[in-house]
Amino acid sequence: MKNNSLKITDNRTGTSYTLPIHNNTINALSLRDIKVNEDDFGLMAYDPGYTNTASCNSTITYVDGEKGVLMYRGYPIEQLAENSTFLEVSYLLINDSLPSKEQSEHWENKVMHHTYIHENLAKLMQTFRYDAHPMGMLIGTIAAMSTLHPDAKEIHNPTSRQKQIWRILGKLPTIAAFAYRRRIGRPYNYPDSSLGYTENLLYMMDYMNQGNYQVDPILAKALDTLLILHADHEQNCSTSVMRNIGSSHADPYSAMAGAAAALYGPLHGGANEAVLRMLTEIANTDNIPHYIDQVKDGKFRLMGFGHRVYKNYDPRARIIKNVADQVLKVTGSTPLLEIALELENIALKDDYFVSRNLYPNVDFYSGIIYQAMGFPVDMFPVLFALGRAPGWLAQWLELIDDQEQKIARPRQIYTGHMNRDYVPINKRK
Ligand code: ACO
Repeated sequence: MKNNSLKITDNRTGTSYTLPIHNNTINALSLRDIKVNEDDFGLMAYDPGYTNTASCNSTITYVDGEKGVLMYRGYPIEQLAENSTFLEVSYLLINDSLPSKEQSEHWENKVMHHTYIHENLAKLMQTFRYDAHPMGMLIGTIAAMSTLHPDAKEIHNPTSRQKQIWRILGKLPTIAAFAYRRRIGRPYNYPDSSLGYTENLLYMMDYMNQGNYQVDPILAKALDTLLILHADHEQNCSTSVMRNIGSSHADPYSAMAGAAAALYGPLHGGANEAVLRMLTEIANTDNIPHYIDQVKDGKFRLMGFGHRVYKNYDPRARIIKNVADQVLKVTGSTPLLEIALELENIALKDDYFVSRNLYPNVDFYSGIIYQAMGFPVDMFPVLFALGRAPGWLAQWLELIDDQEQKIARPRQIYTGHMNRDYVPINKRK
């Protein structure tokens, strides 16, 4: 206990307490032993936004924000982005190891055989208004899936859980593509399971009955890489929601609808859209110095820069920059890339950004790629959700099997009124 412990003296009482330290962490419940008297509730930790609270043990994703390191199940993101596929990374996140050849074939086969959605779901999607945001459609449709697959409630049955995972991974691209087609007023293309996962997604979105239609393999690979880069990022906002809802033992569709809703927020899934708006507003590389001056004056933030965890170059941003080069070779360049590169160049030499450890994050280049590939801006968070789905599922599985987990139920510090007497309405001022 001598070394791996924390000694606290409560100056209110003069009592000292020794709290064990495991993995650089103290158990928050041990603070409750620190009391003024027997009737006292005991100390709590105040942590809005959970910026310094570990809510679980996890073996899925490792992030070292100071060094700019990201690993899934111990594999560096750079190696996975270079050599793997999104479906293989999904297997890795969910099963903890890379699949053998047989396991890989079985996995892909199972996922691709769950790409068709129930016709009721397709009809439900038709009922959204013509201008419905695709993210709203995605959230509503995922929630509706729980009504079609009631066996998903058997969350402690591994066979049922496995089936829901194949269903979710298989059907999400179909729902995303249908949301897109609904939005642009075109008929749905039903899935083609002879295609690869990302190829099939692009086919369902783009195909217009052309005789010689083929998905561009470079674009399919680029999108696959972007999905890999988004596949998990430990306890971020949407993943925490997935775990919170899952902690009440709701089915995975209901939990995932909540996670997707969290991702819809502009502070989480919408930053790449903000980057595009910013680059469009800058319009010309000559305008960058003035723009940077305004950022330094605190008028607004440089979107796509900075990260709560990364205080170094976001490793995903480095990979995405290369993907942007490949995609723009196919689609033709965009002036936005030139502005982004110059903006990064200037910012990384500027003491304001250097001293605050502000580097490009994952969103700085992803919007440029999506736009070059022809995705409308409101599809960006949908693509993010498709990528994050295996991470949400892996984290949900880990939660269900973790004996230490309980229903999520934070404490509060009550600062409101006490014991007020009810006043009839005719006597109120
Ligand atoms: N541009 C200019 N200054 C910035 C930026 C930025 N993008 N980000 C942080 N700063 C400055 C702050 O003004 C602050 O300066 P100060 O110390 O002089 O007050 C300092 O850097 C620290 O900023 P915090 O807000 O404390 O950093 P935090 O870790 O809370 O914020 C965040 C992280 C929200 C991502 C922030 O960097 C930001 O707003 N970036 C722009 C939005 C963005 O790109 N979001 C996507 C994040 S990636 C993702 O969610 C998938």
